[in-house]
Amino acid sequence: MKESTRVLIPEDQIDERIRQLAEQISKDYAGKTVHLIGILKGSVFFICDLAKRLTIPVTMDFMSVSSYGAGTKSSGVVKLIKDLDEPIENREVLVVEDIIDSGHTLSYLLKNLSSRHPASLRLCTLLDKPDRRECDVEVDYQGFQIPDEFVIGYGLDYDQRYRNLPYIGVMSLEEE
Ligand code: IMP
Ligand code: MG
Repeated sequence: MKESTRVLIPEDQIDERIRQLAEQISKDYAGKTVHLIGILKGSVFFICDLAKRLTIPVTMDFMSVSSYGAGTKSSGVVKLIKDLDEPIENREVLVVEDIIDSGHTLSYLLKNLSSRHPASLRLCTLLDKPDRRECDVEVDYQGFQIPDEFVIGYGLDYDQRYRNLPYIGVMSLEEE
């Protein structure tokens, strides 16, 4: 199969949208320290660009979960691969994710995190594919809604590749 990609969201649009999100988040958390939790590895580009533009005090931690194998469909089974380094009790937690697809990953994660009694728990995702939702997930901050297509780039991978593309692209597989 031949892999081909086309641009869905160009770099300057991602940049502009992240500036808007950062402004909103900085307003909403005014006077507080926001504790960003990045979900590895997909959210790394997003969390870095977002964090740089926040004007409030920021701390960061990371978690790694997996719900996908090497393909493009969620298995629905979420596995915790790396837990947080620090407790989140009484902290203002903002989970930063690359994309919400079925919602299984976030639904598991938010339940897991809320049992640790943070002062607040909100969710910021760069991309949202609402057509694919199987679990209800409340999204507080969202970059872009996208159609039901498999996307890559800006942190998102296909079989661990393409994460370094500076834009969001759609990937398709064609017969050679
Ligand atoms: P969910 O559990 O189905 O919501 O899937 C969430 C995770 O699957 C995301 O954090 C991504 O890592 C991955 N994922 C979902 N859709 C895509 C996509 O279109 N491209 C790349 N990864 C995706
Ligand atoms: Mg992810």
